[in-house]
Amino acid sequence: ESYDMGGHDTYMHKEIHEQADAVDRALRGRIDDRFSTVHLGGLNLDARDARAVRRVKILGCGTSYHAGQIGAQMIEELARIPADAEPASEFRYRNPVVDPDTLYIAVSQSGETYDVLAAVQELKRKGARVLGLVNVVGSAIARETDGGIYVHAGPEVCVVSTKCFTNMVVSFGLLALHLGRTRDLSVADGKRIIEGLRKLPGQIEEILANEEQIEKLAGEYADAKSMMFIGRVRGYPVAREASLKLKEVSYIHAEAYPASELKHGPLALIEPAMPTVAIVPDDELLEKNRAALEEIKARSGRILAVAHQEQEKADHTIVVPKNEDELDPILMGIPLQLFAYYTAKAMGRDIDKPRNLAKSVTVE
Ligand code: AGP
Repeated sequence: ESYDMGGHDTYMHKEIHEQADAVDRALRGRIDDRFSTVHLGGLNLDARDARAVRRVKILGCGTSYHAGQIGAQMIEELARIPADAEPASEFRYRNPVVDPDTLYIAVSQSGETYDVLAAVQELKRKGARVLGLVNVVGSAIARETDGGIYVHAGPEVCVVSTKCFTNMVVSFGLLALHLGRTRDLSVADGKRIIEGLRKLPGQIEEILANEEQIEKLAGEYADAKSMMFIGRVRGYPVAREASLKLKEVSYIHAEAYPASELKHGPLALIEPAMPTVAIVPDDELLEKNRAALEEIKARSGRILAVAHQEQEKADHTIVVPKNEDELDPILMGIPLQLFAYYTAKAMGRDIDKPRNLAKSVTVE
């Protein structure tokens, strides 16, 4: 990939459209069909080390933190290791307990984000094992960590991260599969996840082929002053990332909540002028998510659903292809990247360089 815009009007648009190839690159040469696992060359974590891990703590900022939230869920689901993600910027200021049995993972596109680098240095000072999940090869975080995974998204120029987020989540899927197969994830489940991973590039193409519908929808919602994004469990970090994307690039206020938390407060905000974007995967929480849509509809809220099938209660549904439940979050945010892009375009925003933001935040 070059820095050429290749016929796109912005790097954001170009990078959104590079995602099928980027994911393909992240998978290339890593899948081991014979043992239904993956090879992650730079990890420096043999099976014995992997089995000794008692917890996983993921640290990142912004979009990378959101990728880490999805990654933590994948690791818990596939490897059954307790895992969570935390903003690196907060972690290092709360004098965290650093545990030798915890595997720390620093996530960063640039590999230069000061808050993440400082967290890594603090962890190393305390003798922790820290891996990097990084895009830029040879960057400071890649050099400081004990090993890791390059996400291979290719150069990302737009300040607003899109393809790198997707490749980070795919890379977490690979790591979760690897950790899972050193523990209790069966050969059959390993195979099921591998098949799901292989489907991703084609499914991304399918989502991007629906661009016209998304452009039209962005036009319909661009008048909103504020938007609510909701999801549950796997869908919640997707909602958070989609809400950040819209804020960054369009400057429309947006907040993200777990759909289950609506009744504990945010439902008071729902009215026709406050549309909701709902992540509604076809998984074990489908009925619960539908109940949340009903609650919003009962308050005359407009709803745009991202789902695997048309949602009756929604005003509009963007239908995305179904993958394995654990991998669905990789795909469900992609139409909302386009949604943010087209909303910002309709509003005449400076898409590649939103105000007040820098691609890489190398100061505190
Ligand atoms: C992404 O759209 C943002 N501009 C921002 O949140 C970014 O993800 C964050 O600053 C972390 O950057 P990094 O991945 O390079 O560490």
